[in-house]
Amino acid sequence: MATLTRNIGLSLGADICWPLCFEHIIKRMKPVTYQGDTISFAVERVTIEPYALAQPVKYDVVIDRLTHWYDTTREWIKKGVLMDGLYVFNNPWSVQSMEKHTSYAAMTALGMPIPETWMVPPKAYEALPDLKPTLKQYARLFDLAAVGKKIGYPLFMKPYDGGGWKGVTRIKDEAALKKAYDESGTMVMHLQKAVEPFDRFVRTIGFGPQTRSVLYDPDAPLHDRYTMKKEDEFLGAEDRQVLVDTTLTINAFFGWDFNSCEALRKDGVWYPIDFANPCPDSQVTSLHYHFPWLVKAYLKWAMFCAATKRPMRKAFEWDPYYAIARRDLPYKEKLKLYGAHARAVLEADKFDEFCKTQLKDVDALAAEFFGTPEAKESVRLKTAALFPAHEVAPFTELFFKRIQQWRADQ
Ligand SMILES: Nc1ncnc2c1ncn2[C@@H]1O[C@H](COP(=O)(O)OP(=O)(O)OP(=O)(O)O)[C@@H](O)[C@H]1O
Ligand SMILES: [Mg+2]
Repeated sequence: MATLTRNIGLSLGADICWPLCFEHIIKRMKPVTYQGDTISFAVERVTIEPYALAQPVKYDVVIDRLTHWYDTTREWIKKGVLMDGLYVFNNPWSVQSMEKHTSYAAMTALGMPIPETWMVPPKAYEALPDLKPTLKQYARLFDLAAVGKKIGYPLFMKPYDGGGWKGVTRIKDEAALKKAYDESGTMVMHLQKAVEPFDRFVRTIGFGPQTRSVLYDPDAPLHDRYTMKKEDEFLGAEDRQVLVDTTLTINAFFGWDFNSCEALRKDGVWYPIDFANPCPDSQVTSLHYHFPWLVKAYLKWAMFCAATKRPMRKAFEWDPYYAIARRDLPYKEKLKLYGAHARAVLEADKFDEFCKTQLKDVDALAAEFFGTPEAKESVRLKTAALFPAHEVAPFTELFFKRIQQWRADQ
């Protein structure tokens, strides 16, 4: 029976809005109890400075939004996991090495309907000393048109390690393929069969065992891409379960506590096309209506991991998934088994119980907080960072109004 404080570190870059909301709400939380101990939470922004490897990391949990591009922090986090018992979202080794390509390969191996995907060597190279002998001996001239023909048009050319729509081209024929390849420079590219026509485009955000599926409109302006449709307006129960199982399987497999999975439905089949997003969009300027859900997901999973001292899985445990993949079962059945295994890895039952008994205030606190001037100011600050001056006020109003709609819908 002790009174304890758990330290949560926020490792941030340009994020503005969600951390402010996170800090405001956690400050309003009463302590929780776990195994007889009374636990409160202290939140702090992680700073960037020199450190000795021997210097212990003080945090129990770090929520990290920098690993994918800021190496000093990534290495500090790895040291913290290896030396100081740190729990971090997400697994930094996984974020560093599991690109889109790996995610396609692994999920294809599990039987997921990933559209046919090819990898092609790049058009151009950085001039490294070994480049010439390597290419001269081993690079085979290849017929790009033949690859395009095998896949069939339309197809998408996109980087093997993509993000933010960079280098993505929809290609309708051979001439367009040649042109896009000639312009692709040093980027290492996938060619992927287009899932067209699709009748649903859904992004499912997974956060620990929590999920939310959002109908996505890729052609809308950025602030309207996440539509405000309710899940039951565009997903039946069975579709919803497929997306949940798919997302949780991916996240548990790769050690991603938070990630988002884009899937397109064609002829009743959900094709995942982009699911290596382990630092998923968390901005109020794109999520608006869905933003409070995400802030709550951050809060609940962080407090659960910190209070229960959830152990960090340092390495990957993939055998159980492959054991299911080898079974003589239709994919539908395998997916249910993957989903059940993922929920066990993500301690879904323990988390639900913890939410019910210890975090029941979060929903009410969040509903209240998102109506306050502090919440509106957090929205304004993010909007001001991204929008031209004359658009800040109208867009702040728009995003805040959508958040009020979320409150009304609770
Ligand atoms: N196989 C496909 N079939 C149909 N549409 C696709 C396919 N691949 C990509 N797209 C379209 O191209 C967009 C960008 O591709 P993708 O999501 O793979 O790249 P990204 O750089 O990760 O984008 P973002 O970071 O915006 O999610 C998708 O949102 C989708 O609209
Ligand atoms: Mg995408």
